[in-house]
Amino acid sequence: MKPKLKRVFQCQSCGYISPKWIGKCPDCGAWNSFVEEVIEAESISKKAETARLKTLEDIQPVPISSIKITLSDRLSTGISELDRVLGGGVVRGSLVLIGGDPGIGKSTLLLQATDNLAKKYGRVLYVSGEESLTQIKLRAERLGAISENILLLSETLVEKILDWASEEELNALVVDSIQTVYTEEAMSAPGSVSQIRESATKFINFAKQKGIPVFLIGHVTKEGAIAGPRVLEHLVDTVLYFEGDRGYAYRILRSVKNRFGPTNEIGVFEMTGTGLIEVENPSLIFLSEHSQNSGSAITATIEGTRAILTEIQALVAPSNFGMPRRNFIGVDYQRVNLLVAVLEKRGRINLAGADIFVNVVGGLKITEPSSDLAVISAIVSSFRDIPLHEGMVIFGEVGLSGEIRAISQTEMRLKEASRIGMKHAIIPKSNLERLKEKFNLKIKGVGSINELIEIIGS
Ligand SMILES: Nc1ncnc2c1ncn2[C@@H]1O[C@H](COP(=O)(O)OP(=O)(O)OP(=O)(O)O)[C@@H](O)[C@H]1O
Ligand SMILES: [Mg+2]
Repeated sequence: MKPKLKRVFQCQSCGYISPKWIGKCPDCGAWNSFVEEVIEAESISKKAETARLKTLEDIQPVPISSIKITLSDRLSTGISELDRVLGGGVVRGSLVLIGGDPGIGKSTLLLQATDNLAKKYGRVLYVSGEESLTQIKLRAERLGAISENILLLSETLVEKILDWASEEELNALVVDSIQTVYTEEAMSAPGSVSQIRESATKFINFAKQKGIPVFLIGHVTKEGAIAGPRVLEHLVDTVLYFEGDRGYAYRILRSVKNRFGPTNEIGVFEMTGTGLIEVENPSLIFLSEHSQNSGSAITATIEGTRAILTEIQALVAPSNFGMPRRNFIGVDYQRVNLLVAVLEKRGRINLAGADIFVNVVGGLKITEPSSDLAVISAIVSSFRDIPLHEGMVIFGEVGLSGEIRAISQTEMRLKEASRIGMKHAIIPKSNLERLKEKFNLKIKGVGSINELIEIIGS
C-alpha cells in the first residue's frame, strides 16, 4: 500500500511544522524560512511503534561496571589542533559536525585529517556529494594527501553509501556535505530540514553500530533551500565551527558542543597553498604586528583550555556628524557601549561628541568580560593620544560603578604573558592579592577605572 502523503510547510532553520505558509517562524523567529515539504501522514506514530517492537526483542541493559574503556577509543587525526578541539582525538562511534561559511576550508581540513587517519589506521571513506572525484584529487595533490588508504566516493544517496560502507572494513567516514546527500525515506528535496535530519540519523546509527567516527560537513548559510546545521546540533555528539575572516589567512576552529571534551576550545590554523597549517603559538601571530601607537592594548583571554594574548585597538576621533559613529568588531557591541557609558560617568571622560571604533586584531572574537579593562585602556589611550607601556598586558572586568572585578584563571593568563615576553601587567586588585605564584612581570593591581586612567596618564 502506498503511504498517504501530506503537504506541510516546514521552517528550514528549526524544523517547525505549519499547515500553511507563514512569514515568520513562531518558534525560532526566523523570517521567510518556510518551505513546502511532503511527509507521510501516518508516519511518526507508526514508525515509532514498529521501531519499538523491533528493538524490544534485543533490549539488554548492562551494569555500568562491566563496560570496559580502552585508550584506543579515541583516534588521533594527526592534526594536533583538531585533536585538542575534539577533546584529545575523535571518539570511536561518534558523530562530528563541522560547520562553516562557504570556502572557509572545511573540505581541506577534513581531507588532511582523512589522509592522516588513513596512514595511521587504514582505510577511510571520503564521500563527496559536491565535488567530482577529479576535483577532490586535484585538492588532494595540492595538500599532499594521497595515501593509498583513502577511498573516494562521489554519491548522494545515503542508503547506497551506507550499504557499501557497512560491508567493508573502514576506520572513519567523512561526508561532504550533509546538505547534498538525501535518503529515500524522506520525500523532500536534499538540503531541507527533514532530509538533513533523516540522513543524519542514519549516519548516527551507522557510527554507533560500526564503532567508527563519522564526520559530517555542514553549510551554515540560511539562504535558499539549504538548511543550516543548527537543526542537527541536538542529534550529533560534537559540533565544531570553522570560522575566520576572509581578509586574513587565519582560521579558527571552535567547539560549541562536545559530549567528549571541553567546549569553547579553539584551534588556530593558517590557510596556505599547501593546506591548513597548525598555529601552535597563536599569541605570537595575533601580536606580530602590534604597534606602539596610542589606542592599542594587549589582553589575555581564555579560549577553552589555554590563554591567548591578543591586541585590542581603539580609535577615538571628534565626530563631524550630529550622531557620533560607534563601530566595534570582534567584541560585544552592547558590552562596549556599556563601558563607554562607565568611562563617561565614572571616569569623567567626555566621549559624547566622539566617533569610537574598536577592533580585535586577527579576526578573533572575544566574548569574555575579562577584556573590559583592555578595551577601556585602548579607548582612553586613543582619546588622550598616549601610547601604553611597551610589553604591557591588561585584563579585568569592569562593573557599572567603575570598580574592577576579579576574574578567573589569572595565573594562566600571566603565565602566557610572561612566556611571550611581556614585561608589565595590569590586573584587578583582588586578583593580585590572591596571587600565589611568582611571575617574571611587573604586576600592578587596580581597583577602579580612575586608578587605571591615572596609570595611563603617568
Ligand atoms: N592554491 C591555493 N592557495 C591558497 N589557498 C587556496 C588555494 N586553493 C584553495 N585555497 C583556499 O582554500 C579555500 C577553499 O577550501 P575548501 O574547498 O576546503 O573550503 P570549503 O569550506 O570546503 O568550501 P565549500 O563550502 O565551497 O565546500 C579557499 O577559500 C582558499 O582560501
Ligand atoms: Mg567543500
